[in-house]
Amino acid sequence: MRLKNKVAIVTGSGSGIGRGIARGFAEEGARVVVCGRRLQKVQEAVTELRSNGGDALGVQVDVTEEASIKELVSASVEAYGTIDVLVNNAGVRGAVGDVTALAVDEWWTALKVNLTGPLLCSRHVIPVMQKAGGGSIINIGSMRIQHVKEGAAAYCTSKGALVYLTRVMALDHAKDRIRVNLLSPALVLTEFTHYVVEGYDDPAEGIKLYGAQYPLGRIGTEEDIAKAAVYLASDESTWVTGAHLNVDGGMVAR
Ligand SMILES: NC(=O)c1ccc[n+]([C@@H]2O[C@H](COP(=O)([O-])OP(=O)(O)OC[C@H]3O[C@@H](n4cnc5c(N)ncnc54)[C@H](OP(=O)(O)O)[C@@H]3O)[C@@H](O)[C@H]2O)c1
Repeated sequence: MRLKNKVAIVTGSGSGIGRGIARGFAEEGARVVVCGRRLQKVQEAVTELRSNGGDALGVQVDVTEEASIKELVSASVEAYGTIDVLVNNAGVRGAVGDVTALAVDEWWTALKVNLTGPLLCSRHVIPVMQKAGGGSIINIGSMRIQHVKEGAAAYCTSKGALVYLTRVMALDHAKDRIRVNLLSPALVLTEFTHYVVEGYDDPAEGIKLYGAQYPLGRIGTEEDIAKAAVYLASDESTWVTGAHLNVDGGMVAR
């Protein structure tokens, strides 16, 4: 129970990696605020956590809307009294295509969700953490920060900028005992990445072929990412801030 008595908000936790992190946190004793835009997904996740003995609250949020984030923070504090951990996980792919072809409105969506979202959520959670005497903020990056991909300027740029946001926030709030770290996954099969197996008659074949490209011989799981997030959220990492942790089966070591 490495997160016993901690209160954690995980954005975008109705599905995928965020849901896995929420599950991992609840298993370690945290009280978890599950949130995202699709209320049904949020409620499904809350039901799952509670049915496994966890303590969870579901709140609808859009991380691009400051008023919505304020409501999320108020609901969390009202239910649990404080916030110890914030995981800025909500993310989108955004515009696809080179800069002559990409849709500029989708470029802005990527920047708003993936970069400004973490800034806005942190902006409203930090005063609660300052009052409590500390906390841990985990920004979810991507292996695409170091292994950029053709046609993914919006995604790579929005995630890449998180390196600097994380480091500056870590310096700004070290005095408050608020640690800020970046956790970058490589491929985990979720709604977001399901397209990678769509061309295969047998998805297991696609998973195996993708996995063979990784030094550790497989793609990641939600649990792999959750375990690293538990470490960064827990008191085991009290001297770790401004760090960039790749959880990627060795991919960016290449
Ligand atoms: N899967 C991978 O291989 C991989 C690799 C590297 C990094 N990542 C990163 O991991 C994070 C989670 O991705 P995933 O793979 O788990 O995909 P996912 O299942 O699509 O999760 C993304 C989550 O973000 C939420 N979201 C999107 N826009 C939002 C907004 N404006 N406000 C609030 N929530 C919003 C979505 O919920 P709603 O639609 O209900 O709002 C969804 O639950 C992302 O930041 C992604 O970039 C994933």
